[in-house]
Amino acid sequence: MTPYFVAIFLLGLTSLATAANFTQVFEWPDGMDYEWPSEAIFLSLTKDNGIPAALVSLLTSSASSPPPKLTPFPSWDIHLNEPANCNKIQRARGLQVDSVGRLWVLDAGSDSCNATLWIFNLNTNETDFIHRFSFHGWMHDLVLEETQNGTFAYITRWRNQHIVVFSLERNESWTVDTPEINPSSIALLSPKKETRQLYLSNYHTNELYSISVSALRNGTQTANPELVGYWTAIRTYRMLIDNHGTMYAAFLWKNYVHSWNTSQSFEEQRVYQGDGLNFVWPFTFALDQNGTLWMMVVDIITRPIYRILKVCSGSCHEIGTA
Ligand SMILES: *[C@@H]1O[C@H](CO)[C@@H](O)[C@H](O)[C@H]1NC(C)=O
Ligand SMILES: *[C@@H]1O[C@H](CO)[C@@H](O)[C@H](O)[C@H]1NC(C)=O
Ligand SMILES: *[C@@H]1O[C@H](CO)[C@@H](O)[C@H](O)[C@H]1NC(C)=O
Ligand SMILES: *[C@@H]1O[C@H](CO)[C@@H](O)[C@H](O)[C@H]1NC(C)=O
Ligand SMILES: *[C@@H]1O[C@H](CO)[C@@H](O)[C@H](O)[C@H]1NC(C)=O
Ligand SMILES: *[C@@H]1O[C@H](CO)[C@@H](O)[C@H](O)[C@H]1NC(C)=O
Ligand SMILES: *[C@@H]1O[C@H](CO)[C@@H](O)[C@H](O)[C@H]1NC(C)=O
Ligand SMILES: *[C@@H]1O[C@H](CO)[C@@H](O)[C@H](O)[C@H]1NC(C)=O
Repeated sequence: MTPYFVAIFLLGLTSLATAANFTQVFEWPDGMDYEWPSEAIFLSLTKDNGIPAALVSLLTSSASSPPPKLTPFPSWDIHLNEPANCNKIQRARGLQVDSVGRLWVLDAGSDSCNATLWIFNLNTNETDFIHRFSFHGWMHDLVLEETQNGTFAYITRWRNQHIVVFSLERNESWTVDTPEINPSSIALLSPKKETRQLYLSNYHTNELYSISVSALRNGTQTANPELVGYWTAIRTYRMLIDNHGTMYAAFLWKNYVHSWNTSQSFEEQRVYQGDGLNFVWPFTFALDQNGTLWMMVVDIITRPIYRILKVCSGSCHEIGTA
Protein backbone atom coordinates (compact mmCIF):
# COMPACT_ATOMS: atom_id res chain seq x y z
CA MET A 1 0.00 0.00 0.00
CA THR A 2 1.38 3.39 -0.91
CA PRO A 3 -0.81 5.83 0.88
CA TYR A 4 -0.76 9.46 -0.11
CA PHE A 5 -1.43 12.09 2.40
CA VAL A 6 -3.16 15.36 2.73
CA ALA A 7 -3.26 17.01 6.08
CA ILE A 8 -6.15 19.36 6.51
CA PHE A 9 -7.07 21.41 9.49
CA LEU A 10 -10.60 22.37 10.30
CA LEU A 11 -12.05 24.46 13.05
CA GLY A 12 -15.53 25.48 12.30
CA LEU A 13 -18.03 27.25 10.21
CA THR A 14 -17.88 28.45 6.68
CA SER A 15 -20.14 28.73 3.73
CA LEU A 16 -19.77 27.67 0.16
CA ALA A 17 -20.09 28.90 -3.38
CA THR A 18 -17.18 28.77 -5.68
CA ALA A 19 -15.53 31.68 -7.39
CA ALA A 20 -12.42 30.14 -8.87
CA ASN A 21 -11.87 26.60 -9.88
CA PHE A 22 -12.72 24.73 -6.77
CA THR A 23 -14.39 21.41 -7.23
CA GLN A 24 -16.43 19.89 -4.51
CA VAL A 25 -15.17 16.44 -3.75
CA PHE A 26 -17.19 15.40 -0.76
CA GLU A 27 -20.16 16.70 1.10
CA TRP A 28 -21.70 15.41 4.31
CA PRO A 29 -25.14 17.01 4.49
CA ASP A 30 -26.16 15.07 7.56
CA GLY A 31 -23.08 15.48 9.68
CA MET A 32 -19.97 13.40 9.59
CA ASP A 33 -19.96 9.70 10.12
CA TYR A 34 -17.21 7.57 11.55
CA GLU A 35 -15.84 4.14 10.88
CA TRP A 36 -12.59 2.28 11.14
CA PRO A 37 -9.73 1.95 8.65
CA SER A 38 -8.74 3.28 5.26
CA GLU A 39 -6.38 6.07 4.53
CA ALA A 40 -5.68 9.32 2.81
CA ILE A 41 -6.79 12.74 4.01
CA PHE A 42 -6.20 13.78 7.58
CA LEU A 43 -8.51 16.28 9.19
CA SER A 44 -8.22 17.95 12.51
CA LEU A 45 -11.58 18.78 14.06
CA THR A 46 -12.66 20.51 17.20
CA LYS A 47 -14.04 17.97 19.56
CA ASP A 48 -17.04 20.16 20.36
CA ASN A 49 -20.48 19.84 18.84
CA GLY A 50 -20.64 16.11 19.06
CA ILE A 51 -17.45 15.49 17.09
CA PRO A 52 -15.78 12.72 19.05
CA ALA A 53 -12.27 12.64 17.59
CA ALA A 54 -9.94 15.54 16.92
CA LEU A 55 -7.87 13.86 14.25
CA VAL A 56 -9.42 11.75 11.53
CA SER A 57 -8.65 10.44 8.10
CA LEU A 58 -10.72 9.62 5.07
CA LEU A 59 -10.17 8.08 1.69
CA THR A 60 -10.07 10.64 -1.09
CA SER A 61 -10.19 8.02 -3.78
CA SER A 62 -13.55 6.83 -2.57
CA ALA A 63 -15.16 10.05 -3.76
CA SER A 64 -18.77 9.15 -4.11
CA SER A 65 -22.14 9.54 -2.61
CA PRO A 66 -22.88 8.57 0.02
CA PRO A 67 -19.89 10.46 1.35
CA PRO A 68 -17.08 8.50 2.96
CA LYS A 69 -16.83 7.82 6.65
CA LEU A 70 -14.14 9.31 8.78
CA THR A 71 -11.65 7.24 10.67
CA PRO A 72 -10.16 8.50 13.92
CA PHE A 73 -6.40 8.56 13.51
CA PRO A 74 -4.51 6.58 14.62
CA SER A 75 -7.15 5.07 16.91
CA TRP A 76 -10.23 5.90 18.92
CA ASP A 77 -8.25 5.25 22.03
CA ILE A 78 -5.87 8.17 21.67
CA HIS A 79 -8.83 10.54 21.39
CA LEU A 80 -10.60 9.52 24.57
CA ASN A 81 -11.68 12.65 26.36
CA GLU A 82 -9.31 12.57 29.32
CA PRO A 83 -7.94 16.09 29.85
CA ALA A 84 -5.51 14.97 32.54
CA ASN A 85 -4.14 12.05 30.55
CA CYS A 86 -1.22 13.41 28.56
CA ASN A 87 -0.92 10.20 26.56
CA LYS A 88 -4.05 11.30 24.68
CA ILE A 89 -4.20 13.88 21.93
CA GLN A 90 -5.90 16.80 23.63
CA ARG A 91 -6.48 19.46 20.99
CA ALA A 92 -5.00 18.82 17.55
CA ARG A 93 -4.17 22.05 15.75
CA GLY A 94 -1.78 22.25 12.81
CA LEU A 95 -1.03 19.11 10.81
CA GLN A 96 1.61 18.37 8.24
CA VAL A 97 2.99 15.30 6.52
CA ASP A 98 6.72 15.32 5.83
CA SER A 99 8.59 13.87 2.87
CA VAL A 100 9.31 10.58 4.59
CA GLY A 101 5.71 9.84 5.43
CA ARG A 102 5.40 11.05 8.97
CA LEU A 103 2.36 12.94 10.16
CA TRP A 104 3.17 15.82 12.50
CA VAL A 105 0.38 16.89 14.80
CA LEU A 106 0.53 20.03 16.89
CA ASP A 107 -1.46 19.41 20.07
CA ALA A 108 -2.31 22.46 22.17
CA GLY A 109 -2.52 20.38 25.34
CA SER A 110 -4.88 21.06 28.24
CA ASP A 111 -4.75 22.60 31.69
CA SER A 112 -2.99 19.46 32.85
CA CYS A 113 -0.93 18.59 29.79
CA ASN A 114 1.71 20.71 28.12
CA ALA A 115 1.46 21.30 24.42
CA THR A 116 2.91 18.40 22.45
CA LEU A 117 4.23 17.59 19.02
CA TRP A 118 3.22 14.09 18.00
CA ILE A 119 4.99 12.51 15.06
CA PHE A 120 3.34 9.40 13.63
CA ASN A 121 4.93 6.97 11.23
CA LEU A 122 2.29 6.50 8.56
CA ASN A 123 3.55 3.09 7.56
CA THR A 124 2.76 1.68 10.95
CA ASN A 125 0.59 4.44 12.46
CA GLU A 126 2.74 4.18 15.55
CA THR A 127 4.01 7.22 17.41
CA ASP A 128 7.57 7.84 16.23
CA PHE A 129 8.44 10.78 18.38
CA ILE A 130 6.88 12.97 21.05
CA HIS A 131 8.08 16.39 22.05
CA ARG A 132 6.57 18.14 25.04
CA PHE A 133 6.71 21.89 25.20
CA SER A 134 7.04 23.79 28.45
CA PHE A 135 3.68 25.53 28.04
CA HIS A 136 0.17 24.77 26.92
CA GLY A 137 -2.59 26.49 25.02
CA TRP A 138 -2.89 28.98 22.20
CA MET A 139 -1.20 26.77 19.64
CA HIS A 140 -2.25 27.79 16.17
CA ASP A 141 -0.35 26.27 13.28
CA LEU A 142 2.92 24.76 12.19
CA VAL A 143 5.01 24.48 9.05
CA LEU A 144 7.87 22.05 8.51
CA GLU A 145 11.20 22.69 6.87
CA GLU A 146 13.37 19.77 5.86
CA THR A 147 17.02 20.71 5.34
CA GLN A 148 20.25 18.81 4.99
CA ASN A 149 20.90 19.87 8.56
CA GLY A 150 17.71 18.41 9.87
CA THR A 151 14.01 19.01 10.16
CA PHE A 152 12.56 22.06 11.81
CA ALA A 153 9.03 23.04 12.73
CA TYR A 154 7.97 26.67 13.01
CA ILE A 155 4.96 27.20 15.18
CA THR A 156 2.70 30.16 15.82
CA ARG A 157 0.63 30.75 18.94
CA TRP A 158 -2.37 33.01 19.32
CA ARG A 159 -1.75 36.02 21.54
CA ASN A 160 2.03 35.57 21.67
CA GLN A 161 4.71 37.75 20.15
CA HIS A 162 7.02 34.93 19.24
CA ILE A 163 7.57 31.97 16.96
CA VAL A 164 8.34 28.58 18.45
CA VAL A 165 11.15 26.75 16.64
CA PHE A 166 11.58 23.01 17.05
CA SER A 167 14.59 20.99 15.92
CA LEU A 168 13.77 17.32 15.50
CA GLU A 169 17.37 16.12 15.59
CA ARG A 170 18.09 18.00 18.78
CA ASN A 171 14.65 17.38 20.28
CA GLU A 172 14.73 20.97 21.37
CA SER A 173 12.35 23.86 21.05
CA TRP A 174 12.87 27.51 21.73
CA THR A 175 11.12 30.78 21.08
CA VAL A 176 12.22 33.65 18.87
CA ASP A 177 10.59 36.93 19.79
CA THR A 178 8.83 39.00 17.15
CA PRO A 179 8.36 42.35 18.92
CA GLU A 180 5.06 44.09 18.16
CA ILE A 181 3.93 41.24 15.93
CA ASN A 182 1.49 38.54 17.02
CA PRO A 183 2.05 35.89 14.37
CA SER A 184 -1.10 33.90 13.67
CA SER A 185 -1.07 32.16 10.32
CA ILE A 186 2.19 30.95 8.90
CA ALA A 187 3.36 29.68 5.51
CA LEU A 188 6.68 28.60 4.06
CA LEU A 189 7.76 29.52 0.57
CA SER A 190 9.64 27.23 -1.78
CA PRO A 191 11.15 24.65 0.50
CA LYS A 192 13.62 23.90 -2.29
CA LYS A 193 15.07 27.37 -2.57
CA GLU A 194 18.25 28.49 -0.86
CA THR A 195 16.80 31.28 1.18
CA ARG A 196 13.51 30.03 2.36
CA GLN A 197 11.07 32.64 3.44
CA LEU A 198 8.53 32.25 6.15
CA TYR A 199 5.41 34.38 5.92
CA LEU A 200 3.51 35.49 8.98
CA SER A 201 0.29 37.40 9.37
CA ASN A 202 -0.22 39.61 12.37
CA TYR A 203 -3.32 38.51 14.22
CA HIS A 204 -4.43 41.97 15.31
CA THR A 205 -3.86 43.80 12.05
CA ASN A 206 -3.90 43.15 8.34
CA GLU A 207 -0.12 43.07 8.04
CA LEU A 208 1.76 40.33 6.24
CA TYR A 209 5.42 39.85 7.10
CA SER A 210 8.25 37.69 5.85
CA ILE A 211 11.41 36.45 7.48
CA SER A 212 14.17 34.17 6.27
CA VAL A 213 14.19 30.90 8.13
CA SER A 214 17.92 31.06 8.63
CA ALA A 215 17.32 34.04 10.87
CA LEU A 216 15.18 31.79 13.08
CA ARG A 217 17.54 28.86 13.15
CA ASN A 218 20.80 30.62 13.95
CA GLY A 219 20.15 31.00 17.65
CA THR A 220 18.91 34.54 17.61
CA GLN A 221 16.40 35.40 20.33
CA THR A 222 14.71 38.22 18.49
CA ALA A 223 13.69 38.35 14.88
CA ASN A 224 12.55 41.33 12.91
CA PRO A 225 10.21 40.22 10.14
CA GLU A 226 9.86 42.56 7.19
CA LEU A 227 6.54 44.01 6.19
CA VAL A 228 5.38 42.64 2.84
CA GLY A 229 1.96 44.17 2.45
CA TYR A 230 -1.49 44.69 3.86
CA TRP A 231 -4.35 42.26 3.40
CA THR A 232 -7.75 43.80 2.91
CA ALA A 233 -8.93 41.97 6.02
CA ILE A 234 -7.51 41.46 9.48
CA ARG A 235 -7.16 38.17 11.33
CA THR A 236 -5.64 35.91 8.73
CA TYR A 237 -6.50 32.49 9.94
CA ARG A 238 -4.74 30.11 7.59
CA MET A 239 -2.16 30.56 4.87
CA LEU A 240 -0.57 28.12 2.47
CA ILE A 241 1.85 28.52 -0.43
CA ASP A 242 1.55 26.04 -3.27
CA ASN A 243 4.32 24.67 -5.47
CA HIS A 244 3.90 27.55 -7.91
CA GLY A 245 4.54 30.14 -5.23
CA THR A 246 0.90 31.18 -4.95
CA MET A 247 -0.13 32.05 -1.42
CA TYR A 248 -3.68 31.36 -0.30
CA ALA A 249 -5.12 33.08 2.74
CA ALA A 250 -8.33 32.62 4.71
CA PHE A 251 -9.52 35.11 7.29
CA LEU A 252 -11.52 34.85 10.47
CA TRP A 253 -15.14 35.89 9.99
CA LYS A 254 -14.74 36.41 6.27
CA ASN A 255 -16.35 34.17 3.71
CA TYR A 256 -13.65 34.29 1.08
CA VAL A 257 -10.17 33.09 0.22
CA HIS A 258 -7.59 35.36 -1.34
CA SER A 259 -4.42 34.55 -3.18
CA TRP A 260 -1.20 36.33 -4.02
CA ASN A 261 1.50 35.37 -6.51
CA THR A 262 4.58 35.71 -4.32
CA SER A 263 6.79 36.28 -7.39
CA GLN A 264 5.09 39.60 -7.89
CA SER A 265 4.53 42.63 -5.72
CA PHE A 266 1.81 42.17 -3.15
CA GLU A 267 -1.62 42.07 -4.73
CA GLU A 268 -4.62 40.07 -3.62
CA GLN A 269 -7.02 38.16 -5.79
CA ARG A 270 -10.22 36.57 -4.65
CA VAL A 271 -10.19 32.90 -5.54
CA TYR A 272 -13.10 31.66 -3.49
CA GLN A 273 -16.29 33.36 -2.40
CA GLY A 274 -18.74 31.97 0.10
CA ASP A 275 -22.46 32.46 -0.29
CA GLY A 276 -23.15 35.09 2.30
CA LEU A 277 -22.59 33.62 5.71
CA ASN A 278 -19.55 34.77 7.57
CA PHE A 279 -16.93 32.20 8.34
CA VAL A 280 -16.67 32.11 12.07
CA TRP A 281 -13.77 29.72 11.85
CA PRO A 282 -12.51 29.47 8.33
CA PHE A 283 -11.54 26.16 6.96
CA THR A 284 -8.14 25.00 6.09
CA PHE A 285 -5.82 24.24 3.22
CA ALA A 286 -3.59 21.32 2.34
CA LEU A 287 -1.46 20.25 -0.58
CA ASP A 288 -1.30 16.64 -1.64
CA GLN A 289 1.80 15.01 -3.06
CA ASN A 290 0.94 16.17 -6.56
CA GLY A 291 0.71 19.74 -5.39
CA THR A 292 -3.06 19.86 -5.65
CA LEU A 293 -4.66 22.22 -3.19
CA TRP A 294 -7.49 20.91 -1.06
CA MET A 295 -9.62 22.79 1.35
CA MET A 296 -12.30 21.91 3.79
CA VAL A 297 -15.27 24.09 4.59
CA VAL A 298 -18.20 23.83 6.93
CA ASP A 299 -21.31 25.43 5.55
CA ILE A 300 -23.87 26.30 8.19
CA ILE A 301 -27.32 26.53 6.73
CA THR A 302 -29.79 24.94 9.06
CA ARG A 303 -27.13 22.53 10.25
CA PRO A 304 -23.45 22.13 9.47
CA ILE A 305 -22.64 20.72 6.06
CA TYR A 306 -19.05 19.62 5.65
CA ARG A 307 -17.42 19.86 2.28
CA ILE A 308 -14.01 19.11 0.88
CA LEU A 309 -12.97 21.00 -2.22
CA LYS A 310 -9.97 20.78 -4.44
CA VAL A 311 -8.56 23.37 -6.75
CA CYS A 312 -8.54 22.33 -10.36
CA SER A 313 -6.12 23.68 -12.87
CA GLY A 314 -6.96 22.89 -16.44
CA SER A 315 -9.60 20.26 -16.91
CA CYS A 316 -11.42 19.31 -13.81
CA HIS A 317 -14.49 17.27 -13.19
CA GLU A 318 -16.71 16.92 -10.23
CA ILE A 319 -15.93 13.79 -8.31
CA GLY A 320 -18.89 13.66 -6.02
CA THR A 321 -21.47 15.69 -4.21
CA ALA A 322 -24.36 14.88 -2.02
C1 LIG B 1 -2.88 3.81 9.15
O1 LIG B 1 -3.96 4.75 9.19
C2 LIG B 1 -4.54 4.98 7.93
C3 LIG B 1 -5.54 6.09 8.06
O2 LIG B 1 -6.48 5.83 9.04
C4 LIG B 1 -5.14 3.68 7.42
O3 LIG B 1 -5.70 3.87 6.16
C5 LIG B 1 -4.06 2.62 7.33
O4 LIG B 1 -4.63 1.40 6.96
C6 LIG B 1 -3.37 2.47 8.66
N1 LIG B 1 -2.21 1.60 8.49
C7 LIG B 1 -1.91 0.66 9.36
C8 LIG B 1 -0.67 -0.12 9.08
O5 LIG B 1 -2.61 0.45 10.34
C1 LIG C 1 12.18 14.84 23.59
O1 LIG C 1 12.23 15.74 24.67
C2 LIG C 1 11.11 15.70 25.51
C3 LIG C 1 11.25 16.76 26.55
O2 LIG C 1 11.40 17.97 25.91
C4 LIG C 1 11.00 14.33 26.16
O3 LIG C 1 9.82 14.27 26.93
C5 LIG C 1 10.95 13.27 25.08
O4 LIG C 1 11.01 12.00 25.67
C6 LIG C 1 12.11 13.42 24.12
N1 LIG C 1 11.89 12.50 23.04
C7 LIG C 1 12.85 11.74 22.57
C8 LIG C 1 12.48 10.80 21.49
O5 LIG C 1 13.99 11.81 23.00
C1 LIG D 1 5.14 21.56 31.57
O1 LIG D 1 6.38 22.18 31.38
C2 LIG D 1 6.91 22.74 32.55
C3 LIG D 1 8.18 23.49 32.19
O2 LIG D 1 9.06 22.62 31.50
C4 LIG D 1 7.20 21.66 33.56
O3 LIG D 1 7.67 22.23 34.75
C5 LIG D 1 5.91 20.92 33.83
O4 LIG D 1 6.18 19.83 34.67
C6 LIG D 1 5.30 20.43 32.54
N1 LIG D 1 4.01 19.85 32.82
C7 LIG D 1 3.67 18.65 32.41
C8 LIG D 1 2.31 18.19 32.79
O5 LIG D 1 4.42 17.95 31.73
C1 LIG E 1 23.87 23.50 7.52
O1 LIG E 1 24.77 23.86 8.55
C2 LIG E 1 25.99 24.40 8.06
C3 LIG E 1 26.91 24.59 9.23
O2 LIG E 1 26.23 25.13 10.34
C4 LIG E 1 25.68 25.71 7.35
O3 LIG E 1 26.87 26.26 6.83
C5 LIG E 1 24.72 25.41 6.19
O4 LIG E 1 24.35 26.63 5.59
C6 LIG E 1 23.48 24.73 6.71
N1 LIG E 1 22.65 24.35 5.60
C7 LIG E 1 21.36 24.60 5.57
C8 LIG E 1 20.62 24.15 4.37
O5 LIG E 1 20.79 25.17 6.48
C1 LIG F 1 21.02 35.48 12.81
O1 LIG F 1 20.44 36.03 11.64
C2 LIG F 1 20.03 37.37 11.82
C3 LIG F 1 19.32 37.79 10.57
O2 LIG F 1 19.95 37.30 9.44
C4 LIG F 1 21.23 38.22 12.10
O3 LIG F 1 20.85 39.55 12.30
C5 LIG F 1 21.91 37.72 13.37
O4 LIG F 1 23.10 38.44 13.60
C6 LIG F 1 22.22 36.24 13.25
N1 LIG F 1 22.68 35.78 14.54
C7 LIG F 1 23.68 34.93 14.67
C8 LIG F 1 24.00 34.51 16.07
O5 LIG F 1 24.33 34.54 13.72
C1 LIG G 1 3.54 34.48 -10.91
O1 LIG G 1 4.28 35.54 -11.41
C2 LIG G 1 5.40 35.15 -12.18
C3 LIG G 1 6.21 36.39 -12.48
O2 LIG G 1 5.41 37.38 -13.03
C4 LIG G 1 4.90 34.42 -13.41
O3 LIG G 1 5.99 34.01 -14.18
C5 LIG G 1 4.08 33.23 -12.97
O4 LIG G 1 3.52 32.57 -14.09
C6 LIG G 1 2.98 33.63 -12.03
N1 LIG G 1 2.39 32.43 -11.48
C7 LIG G 1 1.11 32.13 -11.63
C8 LIG G 1 0.64 30.86 -11.00
O5 LIG G 1 0.34 32.83 -12.26
C1 LIG H 1 -0.99 12.18 -8.38
O1 LIG H 1 -0.89 12.02 -9.77
C2 LIG H 1 -0.77 10.66 -10.18
C3 LIG H 1 -0.54 10.67 -11.69
O2 LIG H 1 -1.43 11.56 -12.30
C4 LIG H 1 -2.05 9.93 -9.78
O3 LIG H 1 -1.97 8.59 -10.16
C5 LIG H 1 -2.23 10.00 -8.27
O4 LIG H 1 -3.45 9.43 -7.88
C6 LIG H 1 -2.22 11.47 -7.85
N1 LIG H 1 -2.24 11.55 -6.40
C7 LIG H 1 -3.17 12.24 -5.75
C8 LIG H 1 -3.01 12.32 -4.29
O5 LIG H 1 -4.09 12.79 -6.32
C1 LIG I 1 -10.28 28.00 -14.29
O1 LIG I 1 -10.17 26.98 -15.24
C2 LIG I 1 -10.32 27.43 -16.57
C3 LIG I 1 -10.25 26.22 -17.50
O2 LIG I 1 -10.46 25.04 -16.83
C4 LIG I 1 -9.23 28.43 -16.89
O3 LIG I 1 -9.43 28.94 -18.20
C5 LIG I 1 -9.29 29.58 -15.91
O4 LIG I 1 -8.20 30.44 -16.11
C6 LIG I 1 -9.22 29.05 -14.49
N1 LIG I 1 -9.41 30.14 -13.56
C7 LIG I 1 -8.57 30.35 -12.55
C8 LIG I 1 -8.90 31.52 -11.67
O5 LIG I 1 -7.62 29.62 -12.32
